[in-house]
Amino acid sequence: MPAPSILEVGPGPGHLAVCLLRAIRDARWTGLDIDPAMVAAARARLVRTGLAARSDVVEGDVSALPFADASFDLVVTSFSAHHWPDAALGFAEVARVLRPGGVVLAYDLPAWWARLERGSEGIRAGRGPFPDAVIARRHGVGPVTIVERLEAVRA
Ligand SMILES: C[S@@+](CC[C@H](N)C(=O)[O-])C[C@H]1O[C@@H](n2cnc3c(N)ncnc32)[C@H](O)[C@@H]1O
Repeated sequence: MPAPSILEVGPGPGHLAVCLLRAIRDARWTGLDIDPAMVAAARARLVRTGLAARSDVVEGDVSALPFADASFDLVVTSFSAHHWPDAALGFAEVARVLRPGGVVLAYDLPAWWARLERGSEGIRAGRGPFPDAVIARRHGVGPVTIVERLEAVRA
């Protein structure tokens, strides 16, 4: 089986890249992040960990991915999609760059959490752990799911 090509959207400083490249021998990882500081941090981490040769970090916006159609076997994204100005457009771009049969794995906050985040003093003030229980109580929500996972295969 040929080495898989992985795209990560919004990798931040590149922690997941290191895990993926160590876990999947010969995989090739490309990260795309809108923030130049994150691009620089991810590049530096990949150099430090000796993984630069199998990776590439690009500055860009998920709304206009600078990659050809059907370029990747796997697209991953974690805790980035809630920042995207138009998530539908972002995921349409993700689908475009996936090969047929390719997989997208997206991890993020539940939709309601993203809405609450904007108005939450607790999170903005950055006090201690996520005040999920406090917010949930305030909004009359039961047990809280912090992470939602979306998994899809391109037809
Ligand atoms: C909360 S951080 C998550 C970083 C990392 N994935 C993690 O789980 O720790 C969100 C990342 O998404 C990036 N991002 C936000 N909007 C983006 C966009 N429109 N296109 C690409 N990256 C974006 C940010 O610059 C940031 O690095």
